[in-house]
Amino acid sequence: MLLVDMSNELSGRVAIVTGGASGIGAASAALLAAAGAAVIVADLQPARGRSDGSRDGPGRFVAHDVASEDSWKSLLADVFAREGRLDIMVNNAGISGGPGNIETTTVENWQKVQAIDSEGVFLGSKYAIEGMKRTGPGKPTIKGSIVNVSSIAGLVGGAGPTAYTAAKGAVRLLSKSVALYCAEQKYDIRCNSVHPGGVDTAIFNPLWQAMGHEQGKAFIGARHPIGRPGNWAPPRISSRSTSSRSRAGRPPSPPRRRNSALCTGS
Ligand SMILES: NC(=O)c1ccc[n+]([C@@H]2O[C@H](COP(=O)([O-])OP(=O)(O)OC[C@H]3O[C@@H](n4cnc5c(N)ncnc54)[C@H](O)[C@@H]3O)[C@@H](O)[C@H]2O)c1
Repeated sequence: MLLVDMSNELSGRVAIVTGGASGIGAASAALLAAAGAAVIVADLQPARGRSDGSRDGPGRFVAHDVASEDSWKSLLADVFAREGRLDIMVNNAGISGGPGNIETTTVENWQKVQAIDSEGVFLGSKYAIEGMKRTGPGKPTIKGSIVNVSSIAGLVGGAGPTAYTAAKGAVRLLSKSVALYCAEQKYDIRCNSVHPGGVDTAIFNPLWQAMGHEQGKAFIGARHPIGRPGNWAPPRISSRSTSSRSRAGRPPSPPRRRNSALCTGS
């Protein structure tokens, strides 16, 4: 479990985390909340497998589909009506789309993965800028930060999954383009992509079902120098700060004034 002492460094800021109901997004939402931000968890579902709408972790849940532009418009309107500002956008929602290679991936599968993993991040970046520009004066120095969750698959190409790899590669250069555009416009909005390696989350459920959890973890671990996938867990608040500690599989940190080594962009 990650120990954090963020000392309310994000007090007064408002953050949206897409896909924040599960895995890396849920851990990111918890970290942002621990740092004092008001967090909106924007996800298709409140929590995986819960029919009663309840969920663990902090944040106000808003039903949202990152692949729908109308849903983005509603989300932004809702956040401005309730929280009144937007400072941080974590474009984290994603699907794996399964293991298809270039020969076995269907057009339908390709389009579904691009719609969520690539176009969803495009829309998230676009509406983040709109919201951050609307937030206006009276803010701390940094106007906004966009964190786009790509993958190691967006840095290092593999034989598959083809659609996922292509979408995550697109997120990397989209983030650079957004960062450079915002710099040119002097918006004072940063944009970074983060590239996690394998993390033991629900995104791997199909693999766990096919291979068994332990065998599946060994399969993923064999592809990583540390020999295992990372773990995610909501952070526990501590008076001891461990913010400089490096940990494989750690969820993306709340935006800071300097980029981390895992980030590409501005
Ligand atoms: N787990 C890993 O090994 C790993 C590695 C690298 C990158 N990533 C990326 O991290 C991100 C989070 O993945 P995770 O591992 O936590 O998976 P996860 O399945 O635990 O969480 C993904 C969340 O996204 C939500 N989601 C899916 N489609 C959505 C849509 N159209 N609109 C809104 N929400 C939607 C899901 O409901 C779920 O809550 C993804 O972008 C994934 O590609 C994961």
